[in-house]
Amino acid sequence: MSISLIGSTIGESVTLKLNETAAILRAKGDPVIHLGGGEPKSKPPLDALTAAGAMLTSGEVRYTPAYGTREMKQAILRYMDQYYGRKLTPDHVMASGGAKQAIMVALQAVVNPQEEVLFPVPYWVSYPEMVKLIGAKPVAVRAEDGSFQPSMRDIEQHVTSYSRAIMINSPNNPSGAVYSEDFIAEIIDFCEKKGLYLIMDDIYNRLTFEGVKVANPYDYISDHSENSKLIVINGVSKAFAMTGFRIGWAAANKKLIEVMSCIQSHQTSGPSALLQHAAAAAINGSSKAVDSLRTILEANMSVMMTELNAFDGVYIEKPGGTFYCFPDFSHFEKDSVKLSKLLLEKVQVVTVPGIEFGMEGHLRLSYCGTMKDITEGIERIKWCVDLDSPNELYIGERKLVRDWA
Ligand SMILES: Cc1ncc(COP(=O)(O)O)c(C=O)c1O
Repeated sequence: MSISLIGSTIGESVTLKLNETAAILRAKGDPVIHLGGGEPKSKPPLDALTAAGAMLTSGEVRYTPAYGTREMKQAILRYMDQYYGRKLTPDHVMASGGAKQAIMVALQAVVNPQEEVLFPVPYWVSYPEMVKLIGAKPVAVRAEDGSFQPSMRDIEQHVTSYSRAIMINSPNNPSGAVYSEDFIAEIIDFCEKKGLYLIMDDIYNRLTFEGVKVANPYDYISDHSENSKLIVINGVSKAFAMTGFRIGWAAANKKLIEVMSCIQSHQTSGPSALLQHAAAAAINGSSKAVDSLRTILEANMSVMMTELNAFDGVYIEKPGGTFYCFPDFSHFEKDSVKLSKLLLEKVQVVTVPGIEFGMEGHLRLSYCGTMKDITEGIERIKWCVDLDSPNELYIGERKLVRDWA
């Protein structure tokens, strides 16, 4: 079978694949603990569910404009005003099928084949593949000091005449790191001077802990004109626990939104009318659901940190937001795919190998499940990798005996 060049270079989404694997093992009755997940367990806000229910009952679920409904655009504007202090007009925003589609369409709108898109390591698994999907070249920038936040110098060293855009995700998936205000200010200044697009993927911006503040890009841009190359991405998946609703958005200059809407109109048309209605209701409704999710995640994060800090040989940096952390397990095993496989096979704990995010030796662990999942999951991992622990472990009635060294 002949497959296109792009089709044959795109890897599947490892995180989505792991969800599938966990579901299959669970369906078989295996006591799987999923520490690899990327979605909160909470229910979506009641406002969203009620709105969707009412619309569905009305039967009035039709095509929407490619850029989203008027109602959804108004909700996005409200969000942008409330959380960014930025008063935009409907022409500055566009609703998409998730933040993922908003990023994809933004890339299609501004990057040419063969051009380069830069992003810091560790990065969200989809970034390299998304860049490859448009025939461009992903450039992952590693911090020279091995930290989760590269310096401006690290980034500058990777900028060439082919560089077209930089993608920034803070709070960051997988590390949970919140990039410093100074770094965001510097990168915005750099992009403005070099004429590079800056795509800020802010999907976790409301999920921060202990008062950690996420830099607001609009505080630092000096180009407030319609030539601004800032593209802000967000959506309802994470903070509103509405992953399956698939609604995200982009905010950018008017011309760019027009081009992006045009691309989207041929790609998928407007996002689902039903789900835009639900997303708008969530944004316009009470913020209780988001606050309560953040409180749960903060408590979970704290338990995970306690467990990992008590785990000799594992190095962990406390996350400032998201529902992930990215501990370094290289003391036990440098090959993160091998380690992740061992954990799934031997103790049935799902983790995501660090190499998928560009950093070997780490595992991405999620704390968006239950406290029990966290404590039991870490206990199983510890038993599996720490050869000084007893030779046997009970998972419920099931006795595991270590047969590996
Ligand atoms: C950094 C990052 N950006 C974007 C997305 C996609 O969000 P959505 O579900 O709105 O497409 C995710 C989802 O995991 C993510 O982690």
